[in-house]
Amino acid sequence: MKNGIILIGCGVHAQNNYLQFVKKYRYNLKLIVDTHEQEHDVTKAVKDTLKNLPDLYFVDVPKNSLKINKKDCNWLTAYVKNNDIGYVIISTDPLSHKMYLDWAISIGLNVLCEKPLTGYKNINNSIALAKKLNSDFKHLDKICDNKKVKLFIQAQRRYHPVYEFVYSAVKEVILNYGITINYIGIFSGNGIFNSISEYITKESHPHNKGYGKLLHSGYHFIDLFCWFANLNTLVSRVKYTEMSAFASIYSIKDLNSQLKRVSKKNNLLLKDSLFKNLDNKVIDKFECLGEVDMHAQIELKSGESTIVDGQLALLQNSASKRSAVDYNACNLKNLSAIRKELLIIELGPLYSISVSALQNHGVDSLKSCDYNYIVTIHRNNTYIKGKAYEEVCFHNSSAGKDLKSFNKQARLKCFQDFLELKSKSDLKSHKLSISLFSLIQENIAKINLHKVGFSKIKL
Ligand SMILES: NC(=O)c1ccc[n+]([C@@H]2O[C@H](COP(=O)([O-])OP(=O)(O)OC[C@H]3O[C@@H](n4cnc5c(N)ncnc54)[C@H](O)[C@@H]3O)[C@@H](O)[C@H]2O)c1
Repeated sequence: MKNGIILIGCGVHAQNNYLQFVKKYRYNLKLIVDTHEQEHDVTKAVKDTLKNLPDLYFVDVPKNSLKINKKDCNWLTAYVKNNDIGYVIISTDPLSHKMYLDWAISIGLNVLCEKPLTGYKNINNSIALAKKLNSDFKHLDKICDNKKVKLFIQAQRRYHPVYEFVYSAVKEVILNYGITINYIGIFSGNGIFNSISEYITKESHPHNKGYGKLLHSGYHFIDLFCWFANLNTLVSRVKYTEMSAFASIYSIKDLNSQLKRVSKKNNLLLKDSLFKNLDNKVIDKFECLGEVDMHAQIELKSGESTIVDGQLALLQNSASKRSAVDYNACNLKNLSAIRKELLIIELGPLYSISVSALQNHGVDSLKSCDYNYIVTIHRNNTYIKGKAYEEVCFHNSSAGKDLKSFNKQARLKCFQDFLELKSKSDLKSHKLSISLFSLIQENIAKINLHKVGFSKIKL
């Protein structure tokens, strides 16, 4: 088996994860591909991290392009042939995922692709592009079957020790008692405090490319919803036949108005010119901007019966610790974001389980990884074996020093499973998640086109 690995896209995420995994476990990373624009930063990051340097190749296309040019394609294909390459990791911005997926699968490579599987510029204004997310799934699934290769998605919550614990607990109740999940609620708050100018100019997790929260980290929570919802199909009479979703969004303009209402008297940050409210005309100059927050009400039916209802609340605009004006100085992602994650699952009158993951910022602590996960279980123990009430706590520090967080540990497990080609996150297992993802993105496009954000599909 060829065990050489190519990493395509060596930005913040790949540097914090895949390069660290290679450093620690000496995986056979042969080649890193990025764009010429990033040559200096990527070369430095690789030299600073790895003793045995892989080859580096910088493509001629601009960042986030949609097509590999012929010269790069020929070079990469020849490299694969001559260097025992078996695996590719795709960690570019979502806009470039599809072109590398098509290329890698067509020459028989197994792929681990970062979420979301595919993404398109200005998708927030286009129902047709939103639907393409689902047709991309079908196309990629077909070509993987034809080429007999595997495609996996880095959906780390499926490997996260806390969510694995909850998954096993719910599965056991469903299998033992035949009761299905009737409600799933998920809240995620990133605690991002960007100025409006940063929202519209930022290049990492860009909003000016016409997509927002849903395509940034939304897929994790859509997948969590569907991963659990799929457990219901362990009961033989349940087969989902219809899915509907209603979505609403908080836009950059809504945030601009919200910040305008805040008293600036004592708030140094909001007084700074970077944080000054923009005239809506400036914001309107952008043809299409990604949403800041996204909310959805979801229903899955089997024939005439509603099996599971639920909600997603995915916010960037939630309490943050940002205090510095300089974006880099306050290192937004790591130091000033406050992350919160809540999950609640109800199995009718018999069982309920919830996860609350609240970032625990001590007064002096600036560590983003300081999470506590508390799992709470209620059982109707006349019918279900076990205690009526139970609380199980998980602390992130148990993930191990060099992994620092359960999420990182989970990404490593997903990556290791990928190398053994036994991932529980293979493309086929994402069918329901990608259908829902595409449906909600369609609703966002509808909202931006001044229609009602509701859609329904047959499964
Ligand atoms: N699993 C997770 O929890 C998680 C967390 C963060 C990001 N991600 C995902 O990882 C991916 C990368 O995110 P990031 O935060 O590192 O973004 P980033 O912008 O920091 O890095 C992307 C890298 O890809 C390169 N790139 C862009 N277009 C390219 C092209 N056509 N060819 C070659 N290289 C190209 C860029 O130059 C950059 O170095 C995204 O898909 C994102 O959704 C996943």
